[in-house]
Amino acid sequence: MGLAKHLTGTVKIHFNTMAQTIIITGGAGFIGSHVVRLFVTRYPEYRIINLDALTYAGNLENLRDIDQLPNYHFEKVNILDTAALEMVFSKWNPDGVIHLAAESHVDRSINSPLDFVYTNVIGTVNLLNTAKHHWKNNLEGKRFYHVSTDEVYGALGDTGFFTEETRYDPHSPYSASKAASDHFVRAYHDTYQLPVVISNCSNNYGPNHFPEKLIPLFINNVITGKPLPVYGDGLYTRDWLFVKDHATAIDKVFHEGKTGATYNIGGFNEWKNIDLVKLLCRLMDEKLARDTGSSEKLITYVKDRPGHDRRYAIDATKINRELGWKPSVTFEEGLSLTIDWYLQNTEWLTHVTSGEYQQYYDRQYHK
Ligand SMILES: NC(=O)c1ccc[n+]([C@@H]2O[C@H](COP(=O)([O-])OP(=O)(O)OC[C@H]3O[C@@H](n4cnc5c(N)ncnc54)[C@H](O)[C@@H]3O)[C@@H](O)[C@H]2O)c1
Repeated sequence: MGLAKHLTGTVKIHFNTMAQTIIITGGAGFIGSHVVRLFVTRYPEYRIINLDALTYAGNLENLRDIDQLPNYHFEKVNILDTAALEMVFSKWNPDGVIHLAAESHVDRSINSPLDFVYTNVIGTVNLLNTAKHHWKNNLEGKRFYHVSTDEVYGALGDTGFFTEETRYDPHSPYSASKAASDHFVRAYHDTYQLPVVISNCSNNYGPNHFPEKLIPLFINNVITGKPLPVYGDGLYTRDWLFVKDHATAIDKVFHEGKTGATYNIGGFNEWKNIDLVKLLCRLMDEKLARDTGSSEKLITYVKDRPGHDRRYAIDATKINRELGWKPSVTFEEGLSLTIDWYLQNTEWLTHVTSGEYQQYYDRQYHK
């Protein structure tokens, strides 16, 4: 254990101050790309290996600004390919793994649950096995960090919060597959003493978010004048966190979290979907200099998603109390930054909304 300057400039304890080699899986995706950027730029002495299969959700354009830096490396590997995982571990000899690679979209999990079992459950076990095998002679200074979701806890009524002790009660194939992966990670800690840590986070939003998820989908649809499809009565409630704040939380948990522990990460920021959409419409009318209320006219209610959880809300006091983490931006600030990013990155949006995505979109909303 040693000391290092970190985050706010105050002296904090790192679990390992040696120059580290870290494999970040899913680093070409939405959250993963922000985590890779943060680690590559904040820790120039580390080697950061982005391991990603580049599915429809993975996009190396997300990392164009940092991909020439000497401490960034990319390996195109599917976590279902155990031989390739072994090769990458032998080549880089990592001290840490931050595991974000996953199938992540609930609607897709309803259409193709097995894809979620393969990547989220079997892929995670493959990664655990590879780390266990590779680190078998020396677990000192090693860390396997599994990034998960608050959706494993199921749904809340009008009150209450998910804590780290809340019983798992997943309702969608996506959340069931993430719950299973969390259980395997804990089992590898308890059975084989693999030094793991887990975090469960609420809904993220921000730049580079694939436009099948609510906020980027609606920004894109307002820009192009398409309907805004709101599920059911629009009263579903979610806790939203700016993606860069999730990345700083991941940094904290990776370096300072207790081995074997779980940390809930959230924004203390609950919004009913319809209120969020109205705020987004108001901000977009201002930014696009359109008449007030013109974007709201695009709202259309569509048939509800099966098994739709009514409300999620995270109690993030543990990570705040133990690791001193809290979100850095308000929702209105984060949403405004996000809209600005999409308005300035139309080329990115055009690239990711062509091809396979277009067919998916037509199936999902125009049936
Ligand atoms: N987006 C959220 O709001 C949110 C909230 C809490 C937790 N999470 C979790 O964070 C992680 C990242 O989420 P995201 O929204 O960035 O997802 P994403 O779908 O944007 O990115 C997933 C990445 O994983 C890669 N990938 C998928 N299957 C793979 C495989 N078999 N092998 C290797 N790479 C593969 C994809 O190419 C992509 O780059 C996921 O584990 C998700 O469960 C997401």
